[in-house]
Amino acid sequence: MDPDILAYYDRKPETDRLAAGPGLIERVRTQHILRRVLPPPPARVLDVGGATGVYATWLAGLGYSVRLVDPVPGHVAAARDSGVDAVAGDARALAEPDASYDAVLLMGPLYHLTAPEERLAALGEAARVVRPGGVVVEGVAGWVPGAEAAFTDERVLALVASVEEEPALVGASAHILAIATPPS
Ligand SMILES: C[S@@+](CC[C@H](N)C(=O)[O-])C[C@H]1O[C@@H](n2cnc3c(N)ncnc32)[C@H](O)[C@@H]1O
Repeated sequence: MDPDILAYYDRKPETDRLAAGPGLIERVRTQHILRRVLPPPPARVLDVGGATGVYATWLAGLGYSVRLVDPVPGHVAAARDSGVDAVAGDARALAEPDASYDAVLLMGPLYHLTAPEERLAALGEAARVVRPGGVVVEGVAGWVPGAEAAFTDERVLALVASVEEEPALVGASAHILAIATPPS
């Protein structure tokens, strides 16, 4: 685990980030998009970089079968305390079988994994564990230089059949989402 990431979340706990201000707008808008693009419950969702489980608990409440993966021990513990099936792990090497989820959320790891090869590893793992025809929701931070390359790199595009960008969160926060469908 990168000590800089641990130190960052010690300074800035994720617990309340989405509860007020721009974070609240980000959460409501993200939930709106997720309701539109995810297959209906009880679909299996893997929330990679799910932090303390804000989206995972909400999705579980809607009837989804959700597992959360995050490398920060405090995040995993907080998610478990909220009743989420949460495990320690890394987006670049998921301990999940091929094609075992209907949807994968990757809304967080790409903020931290800024090197192209790291991003490709994370996106490749998401494409591996989602079933053919499933959905991958990718989030990047607009303030990371070259963030758009996460969606335009030819090697990334080879992993997906279609990419639908949702830039509407820019302005409320730096969160940009792309909805990807792997080839069937
Ligand atoms: C800003 S939070 C986003 C949380 C939530 N998914 C959301 O959209 O609000 C980023 C999360 O990514 C996690 N993360 C960082 N590096 C990761 C990696 N290599 N693999 C998986 N998760 C990672 C962090 O621990 C943190 O919980």
